[in-house]
Amino acid sequence: MLDRIKQTADYLRGRIANIPNTAIILGTGLGALVDHMTDTVYIPYSEIPNFPVSTVEGHSGNLIFGKLGNKDVIAMQGRFHYYEGYDMKQVTFPVRVFQALGVKTLFVSNASGGMNKEFQVGDVMTITDHINLFPENPLRGRNYNELGTRFPAMTEAYDKKLIRLADEIAAEKGIRLMHGVYVGVTGPTFETPAEYEFFRVIGGDAVGMSTVPEVIVAVHAGMRVYGISVITDLGGKDVTQVPTHEEVQKAAGIAQPKCLEIMKELVNRAD
Ligand code: HPA
Repeated sequence: MLDRIKQTADYLRGRIANIPNTAIILGTGLGALVDHMTDTVYIPYSEIPNFPVSTVEGHSGNLIFGKLGNKDVIAMQGRFHYYEGYDMKQVTFPVRVFQALGVKTLFVSNASGGMNKEFQVGDVMTITDHINLFPENPLRGRNYNELGTRFPAMTEAYDKKLIRLADEIAAEKGIRLMHGVYVGVTGPTFETPAEYEFFRVIGGDAVGMSTVPEVIVAVHAGMRVYGISVITDLGGKDVTQVPTHEEVQKAAGIAQPKCLEIMKELVNRAD
């Protein structure tokens, strides 16, 4: 594993002179961020040694190096979901490569279903914590001390300072930014009403099919993490709305400007 990470990092260093120390995983709801980047270099995942290739509709696969405002960033356009059949090491491989490249701060975004009764479709939510309900932890198996400690704490997986900064930015811009616990599940089924209810009762505010594996690896790697989630549908025992992929995409598109405004400013103000 270490050799493969190094090989990929070396390849990227050969293509990009100045490697940024900030990376952004663009989920559903933040794809348009790339339109706000300048001086971009697109590297398709298919050209990157050891990178899996993204398969799902609506997610193109490119690593994009460039500037967002004044900040040099690496953006992942398209992520690898567990439901696509990738194993956890593949899902989190890009984060390991970021680590090898010296990335210190990781921003992640996703679409999710809201269980919190205060939430509305189109809300944006800062992820303050998560509940890992994937059947597997990405750190299962041999631990490489070079990459991180065997038993990493997840007490403060999401950086408090970045959470506060995002709140300040949202207040300045008049954006309603919720806080909440993200429940990570495999999908690809959306939840039954009883499942949404269960996730709410155990302390979840939103549920989605990504992010948790990448964040676990980023924390293991010693990175600071900020996560934002777009609420694309609502679920619970009294909710009769049936979520579809198309609806999720549409709601994410509508909420995207809010997500973008926060993220652009946050990436620039984060030291
Ligand atoms: N459940 C799981 N994942 C999701 C949802 C949902 O309701 N909405 C968007 N991603």
